[in-house]
Amino acid sequence: MLIGFMGTGKTSIAKRVAKELNLRYIDTDEEVERVIGMSVQEIFRVFGETRFRSEETAAVKRLAAEDNQIIATGGGVVLNPENLAALKANGLVISLTATPEVILERVSRRNNRPLLKVENLLEKIKELLAQREPLYKQAHVAIDTTNRTLAELTQEVVRVFRDR
Ligand code: S3P
Repeated sequence: MLIGFMGTGKTSIAKRVAKELNLRYIDTDEEVERVIGMSVQEIFRVFGETRFRSEETAAVKRLAAEDNQIIATGGGVVLNPENLAALKANGLVISLTATPEVILERVSRRNNRPLLKVENLLEKIKELLAQREPLYKQAHVAIDTTNRTLAELTQEVVRVFRDR
């Protein structure tokens, strides 16, 4: 499974890797949206972050128990240590990283992330990254996505899975 900050390419890369390795692609955000019947944005707005996090943990625990799949996770999945423990116990956890500036550029293309609806986006990204970096480091493998194409990154993740 892939963990990492928003904008590190988890979803795009997981979809491509799944295709290449003939695995099921699954995304914890999509799973939560399916269960609640609302978008992540709406869930944050109507029920708040706490409710989203508890649904996210339920989704992680349910999905981590299955095989033959690649899971893309929401960037905040590492905030609950139970999530990371469940993911690590069941498979290879790869962390995708990028610099704050690259993340800013990638997340600015869309405006669908509730935690990033702020005035000073770069500051917010740096602040969240500082809190989360030690958590992302707990992955089995880390891959820096800065200045690399989706095709290259897909091949690298495929290689890591095959070599495992
Ligand atoms: C979040 C990341 C989002 C989504 C939610 C919260 C976070 O997923 O789960 O908006 O706390 O980093 P992506 O990393 O797929 O954008």
